[in-house]
Amino acid sequence: MRFNNKVEEVLNKQINAEFWSAYMYLSMSAYFQTKGLKGFANWMRVQYQEEVTHALKIYDYIVGRGGVVKLEAIAKVPTEWKGIKDAFKETYNHECKVTDMIHNCYETALNERDHATSNMLQWFINEQAEEEQNVQAILDQLSLIGEDGQAIYLLDKELATRVFVDSTQAAAV
Ligand code: FEO
Repeated sequence: MRFNNKVEEVLNKQINAEFWSAYMYLSMSAYFQTKGLKGFANWMRVQYQEEVTHALKIYDYIVGRGGVVKLEAIAKVPTEWKGIKDAFKETYNHECKVTDMIHNCYETALNERDHATSNMLQWFINEQAEEEQNVQAILDQLSLIGEDGQAIYLLDKELATRVFVDSTQAAAV
């Protein structure tokens, strides 16, 4: 059975969104680096790596189904934020948008009765819930901390310990 055109189209859009996310988090990493916040920069760089693996998971899936991967231009990303909290608020809002896009892919697959794709997208649905929770937890800590420099220093140290793990491989569907 030929890979469904509508599903192929939304998945290609999702590849672009995942690469755009990667690009944005890399830009945030550079921003934190210039502010001397190495731990925050590390957290964002790991986030960048994760997003690349998300794009590649969909890429590999399309190829595996005999579909056509269409890599479009990646739109420009911001380079400046008002501060740590502003960057994390944007991260949270962006992840909510990505969740909506994943849900849209899932609904398209359901409507087209493409059950293999629905099944593959389950992984992303769970991943998005986890990503939103992780960013919300950091936002909560930032709200508690406020402008307390020592607490920001400690949080920066904590975020420096984040290590990239390719979860698309560990939990491949
Ligand atoms: Fe791949 Fe953060 O969504």
